[in-house]
Amino acid sequence: MKTRITELLGIEHPIIQGGMHYVGFAELAAAVSNAGGLGIITGLTQQSAGDLANEIARCKDMTDKPFGVNLTFLPSLSTPDYPAYIRAVIEGGVTVVETAGRNPQEYLPALQDAGIKIIHKCTSVRHSLKAQTIGCDAVSVDGFECGGHPGEDDIPNMILLPRAADELKIPFVASGGMADARSLVAALAMGAEGINMGTRFIATREAPVHPKVKQAIVAASELDTRLVMRPLRNTERVLNNKAAASLLEKERTLGSELKFEEIIDEVAGVYPKIMLDGDMEAGVWSCGMVAGLINDIPSCKELIDNIMSEADALINQRLSNMVTS
Ligand SMILES: Cc1cc2nc3c(=O)[nH]c(=O)nc-3n(C[C@H](O)[C@H](O)[C@H](O)COP(=O)(O)O)c2cc1C
Repeated sequence: MKTRITELLGIEHPIIQGGMHYVGFAELAAAVSNAGGLGIITGLTQQSAGDLANEIARCKDMTDKPFGVNLTFLPSLSTPDYPAYIRAVIEGGVTVVETAGRNPQEYLPALQDAGIKIIHKCTSVRHSLKAQTIGCDAVSVDGFECGGHPGEDDIPNMILLPRAADELKIPFVASGGMADARSLVAALAMGAEGINMGTRFIATREAPVHPKVKQAIVAASELDTRLVMRPLRNTERVLNNKAAASLLEKERTLGSELKFEEIIDEVAGVYPKIMLDGDMEAGVWSCGMVAGLINDIPSCKELIDNIMSEADALINQRLSNMVTS
């Protein structure tokens, strides 16, 4: 399939694996890129710019296809050395950067001068337009259903994607709730040029996370996510577990008095315990409503090949039969 996104990024299929903390290691990024999509290493999972440089080198050993690095500019306890991370990306010869969180404007000249394409992750049309104005090459539009940070507007993709299509000139991918060929074809119909998937890619054979994480996603239904940290205007969609229940109880009790320090046990430093050790109650972790559509743990190649062949059947059989009849 050829879209503005496959052309921009130099990939075969319009499918991107979104950056995911303690999931987006070289193994997953390389597997997605080898399958014809765009794999993404999560920059800040690497503890230093030197570690990121090593991770990029490891990924290059596993694939000769393009892959990206996610740079997330979110509130954190200590500000990472972003310029050093950016140097590692440039020196590593990475061709795509997925930015997320704060406005990435100050970092764009260095990245784009090195020929790197920027996809900025946005949860609203106004942020997407801003990304276009500051010169991003594409946006990833994340609807309310997405795993991770859906923003505070709560607009699902059935509305957000056609709204983005009406306003944007740069290409965009649909993100949040994407799992299969139906997602891809629907996203293309609504004006997107491809899809970005997070949760779906965790439940793949190559995702280097504990098997319990993959099983939790397969076992979850679309009813099993919760929104936490809303009172802090840092809303995150997570899988429901004891930590989510405890965090929500604190939010109910403390109301507008809630401070980040009070929920540190549930949110800070929990990802390695969950993703690597499989300690599923160590804290809250991002997960999309799309878990309700995930029932297997395929390889990235099986997943992507199935999406592309079923999308072809959807477009050329189901939909085209409807049109001709
Ligand atoms: C476990 C997990 C961790 C994530 N970590 C990040 C992150 O560090 N930076 C980021 O920009 N997005 C992060 N995301 C968001 C994904 O890149 C993607 O936008 C989102 O998962 C799309 O929604 P979906 O899960 O419904 O596919 C994370 C998502 C998950 C599920």
